[in-house]
Amino acid sequence: MFYPTLQAVLALCLLLPAVRAQCPAIPDLASYNNTALPDLFTFVDGHTKVLTLDDWACRRAEISTLMQINELGTLPDDPPPEALDVSFSEDTLTITVTEGGKSITFAPTITYPTTGTGPFPAIIGMGGVSIPIPSGIAIINFDNEAMANQDSSPASRGVGLFFDLFGSDASAGAMMAWAWAVRRIMDALERTPAAKINLAKVGVSGCSRDGKGALVAGAFEPRLVLTIPQESGSGGTDSWRISDYVLSTGILTQTASEIVQENVWLSTNFDQFANTSTDRLPFDHHSLGAMVAPRGLFVIDNLGYDWLGPFSSYGAMVAARAAYQALGATDSLGISQSPNHTHCEFPDYQQDQLSAFIDKFLFDQPTDTNIDQTAGNYTFVVPNARWAPWRVPKLI
Ligand SMILES: *[C@@H]1O[C@H](CO)[C@@H](O)[C@H](O)[C@H]1NC(C)=O
Ligand SMILES: *[C@@H]1O[C@H](CO)[C@@H](O)[C@H](O)[C@H]1NC(C)=O
Ligand SMILES: *[C@@H]1O[C@H](CO)[C@@H](O)[C@H](O)[C@H]1NC(C)=O
Ligand SMILES: *[C@@H]1O[C@H](CO)[C@@H](O)[C@H](O)[C@H]1NC(C)=O
Repeated sequence: MFYPTLQAVLALCLLLPAVRAQCPAIPDLASYNNTALPDLFTFVDGHTKVLTLDDWACRRAEISTLMQINELGTLPDDPPPEALDVSFSEDTLTITVTEGGKSITFAPTITYPTTGTGPFPAIIGMGGVSIPIPSGIAIINFDNEAMANQDSSPASRGVGLFFDLFGSDASAGAMMAWAWAVRRIMDALERTPAAKINLAKVGVSGCSRDGKGALVAGAFEPRLVLTIPQESGSGGTDSWRISDYVLSTGILTQTASEIVQENVWLSTNFDQFANTSTDRLPFDHHSLGAMVAPRGLFVIDNLGYDWLGPFSSYGAMVAARAAYQALGATDSLGISQSPNHTHCEFPDYQQDQLSAFIDKFLFDQPTDTNIDQTAGNYTFVVPNARWAPWRVPKLI
């Protein structure tokens, strides 16, 4: 019989990265107050550090929980839907989801490439796409507004198919409802080989309000390999804290306190933070970007609209890129901020960069996606004392 010596056991323990038996518990955060972007690599308990890939899995789950509780509302996905039925004909995927005796049906349409036989890579268009889609890629059009209304009025809260299924008092804001539906589209595609979509090559995109939704979908649907939020602004790639700061310097930017009055993209759970101080949030939108890591994320911004808070987006996404760096995938998050052009019109300035991302993540081409470019000449580094006073570990 072999009895390992104490030395052998110790040597093994040193060699193997520590596997977390249990994720740290989330403490009471009633007096949480942080004027910087919360450290991605320290758990919200304030002291446990993220050092290993297992730690990061815990930290990512913690961020997901905190964002659901405090901002986006609950993703009702655990357990998965009671029943999901799908039928496919020509170019329409008809999806029926049943929960607690109620059913809803929605029917995304697919525009196929005119050549080739598939399975094709695809981009899910949150309310359509407004980026140029190269040939060879299918476009899946998802009518997000029927799923959860986003008229610019509080009266649209709780209206739409999602709320028919889960109740008009479900905590989810519109964006979380859309993310839920994107997950159901992926479920449906998995069961429908006849739809000829390559499940390992599906991305999501949307512009402006739908760009906010695209980022949330990318964060909460890990089967998506590429997320392209376009001019998403506040509630998307912007940091709540940095947008408050930008407004305080006299630049008219959408902030948390404005957005909760304007629309129903977020859960009412967010009001308590928006009404008091965003410093009380135990995360910010660099955390949302970090949830996408190490999958592809290409952030498209336009400097012409102060309301979109381009500096806020830049800072948040450079900070999110720290998670990519820690995971050894720095170049999977690209940031591109063009000079002014009409909102949601895609400029030539960003064409090569967009192509590099699509070619790498949807066509497996070895392109250079190490993109961090802003026509705004902004400076933002991690670490920095004001916004990101934290160290970036190399996770093992
Ligand atoms: C948070 O901390 C800052 C700096 O320490 C302080 O100025 C601010 O009043 C605090 N805010 C809250 C809501 O406690
Ligand atoms: C936030 O402020 C709005 C507008 O003043 C108000 O309707 C809402 O009840 C407040 N919510 C919370 C949680 O403080
Ligand atoms: C940006 O471009 C749009 C569309 O051309 C224009 O309406 C707007 O005034 C421009 N903004 C700035 C700051 O130049
Ligand atoms: C950025 O720097 C370039 C070169 O100095 C300058 O032409 C441009 O106006 C600057 N852009 C902004 C938004 O300040």
